[in-house]
Amino acid sequence: MRRAVCPGSFDPVTNGHLDIVTRAARLYDQVHVAVMVNKSKQGLFTIEERVALIEESLQDYDNVTVEVFHGLLVDYCKQRDIPAIVKGLRAVSDFDYELQMAQMNNGLSGVETLFIPTNPVYSFLSSSLVREVAAWGGDVSHLVPEHVLRALSAKLRRDA
Ligand code: PNS
Repeated sequence: MRRAVCPGSFDPVTNGHLDIVTRAARLYDQVHVAVMVNKSKQGLFTIEERVALIEESLQDYDNVTVEVFHGLLVDYCKQRDIPAIVKGLRAVSDFDYELQMAQMNNGLSGVETLFIPTNPVYSFLSSSLVREVAAWGGDVSHLVPEHVLRALSAKLRRDA
């Protein structure tokens, strides 16, 4: 069975993430979406909320699973016998850091990283921009699924 992982913070999941995961799901038998706990990023959504939002987004994909992992991505891969990490590349600005991580992960454990070019429609899209625009009342309805939009509105209303 060909397995791959799509890792990220997903705070929250966007249409850009979903584009990459669903394209990976056409290439691999099993895709693991790993919600990684990134200690350097302050979250808006709890880890459990992020998982629930991704699961709802991908409920029609039988070969996609979603789970949380605290630790190194290479350990996640090792524990599940996953040989490949799939990431989206939005622009050249992503490349430096992604290359560093890909080389570090390969050096640590031999896991390969494969990049899928982001759909140009989403080349500017990030969870952090979605959070910021939504927090100031901007329209992000074309950038996230409807249930994520509802969750964002509820969260931002509560935090206001
Ligand atoms: O969505 P993000 O925040 O850009 O994703 C970054 C992520 C979570 C994929 C990266 O920070 C990661 O792999 N974190 C897990 C910890 C780890 O393995 N760090 C070493 C990376 S070389």
